[in-house]
Amino acid sequence: MRMVDIIAKKRDNGELTKEEIQYFIDGYTKGDIPDYQASALLMAVFFNDMTQAERADLTMAMVKSGDEIDLSAINGVKVDKHSTGGVGDTTTLVLAPLVAALDVPVAKMSGRGLGHTGGTIDKLEAVEGFHVEITDKEFTDIVNRDKVAVIGQSGNLTPADKKIYALRDVTATVNSIPLIASSIMSKKIASGADAIVLDVKTGDGAFMKHEEDAVALAEAMVSIGNNVGRNTMAIISSMSEPLGYAIGNALEVKEAIETLKGEGPEDLTRLCLELGAQMAVLGGAAESLDEAKEKLQAVIDDGQALEKFKTFLKNQGGDPTVVDDVSRLPQADYQYEVKSKESGFVEEIKAEEIGIASAMLGAGRQTKEDVIDLAVGLVLKKKVGDPVEVGETLAVIHSNTEDVAEVEAKILKDYKIGDNKVNIELVRQVITG
Ligand code: URA
Ligand code: CA
Repeated sequence: MRMVDIIAKKRDNGELTKEEIQYFIDGYTKGDIPDYQASALLMAVFFNDMTQAERADLTMAMVKSGDEIDLSAINGVKVDKHSTGGVGDTTTLVLAPLVAALDVPVAKMSGRGLGHTGGTIDKLEAVEGFHVEITDKEFTDIVNRDKVAVIGQSGNLTPADKKIYALRDVTATVNSIPLIASSIMSKKIASGADAIVLDVKTGDGAFMKHEEDAVALAEAMVSIGNNVGRNTMAIISSMSEPLGYAIGNALEVKEAIETLKGEGPEDLTRLCLELGAQMAVLGGAAESLDEAKEKLQAVIDDGQALEKFKTFLKNQGGDPTVVDDVSRLPQADYQYEVKSKESGFVEEIKAEEIGIASAMLGAGRQTKEDVIDLAVGLVLKKKVGDPVEVGETLAVIHSNTEDVAEVEAKILKDYKIGDNKVNIELVRQVITG
């Protein structure tokens, strides 16, 4: 086989065979195929797309390029959730204990945050003593007993994706549905998921600015999953504002606790019920999404979900008393209210920019080595659709320095205030495959 022939075939809009895709992925991962040939193929894919079969073959070739996590020692259907770039996205913290409370195993591999998006592990580490450095055996035992545990990413997962993603970044081929879909799905499958729930964000602050593109991406990922034997469902959700009120590590833990008590923000609660219902159906805990939602609401109402969160924290060294006394979480030294200079309605809150503002306070890292401040962040007081008067508080800055002028100016810029009372439809579509 010759790489030049594979490039020519895709250039001429042909369908690559499984062997041809395998040849490219193996050769490129090993370094036998040079960047210029890989770039040419990626650009041909960008223009000519891939069939369903090609997408599935590409995904599995990337899965096989490195280690695959074996979760077979864990009983039940292991359902994983993936969200495309959320800001203040507290859903994982809520969903892990919530879904586990229905006895669906949540065996989660997670990462730390980089840039403006927070990582689940960072957030959980805001709870004194909590750690993800547990052995594979402890991880398996905990999930079998209590249905939920989080472990740090380890091993050599999908090296082909790492290399290809870096190349796409510098060859203007990131924004291609078959390439994004196979990239995301390969990582989920290599992490051992039997079933996958996807939250694809759409809107100004999202990777997919237009809803049609978000739907096409979600459908592509759902087809890949189902074609390779992993039941997959998706939700298209709006990112016209950050999710919930809190952005920042300890602040989001507090918000997750409130949500598990049934006292959380409406949007976060709604999304957790939608995603949780898909996880529960795929995990076999309910026959239909409606039945699943009722069961999830029941474990919120009777306190089982909150109890599960305590067990989860305790199992991994965390202090479970924070659940009953959130003042035990790290607190910032200062709080500053950001006051509106305009009257009208909040029309948009630029989610990505708000994430950057929170990172500027020290809640996020710019490089992998940075140490983050778990106490700081932002709490929004006004959300899209809310009326606002001059002088009213839009958001509260939780900071460990007195100098917040730059962050304050940024928040004022990120709030778009106008005459229109906008009503955001948070859950835009549900794609069940
Ligand atoms: N996120 C991924 O993991 N891969 C892509 O290709 C795009 C976004
Ligand atoms: Ca939040």
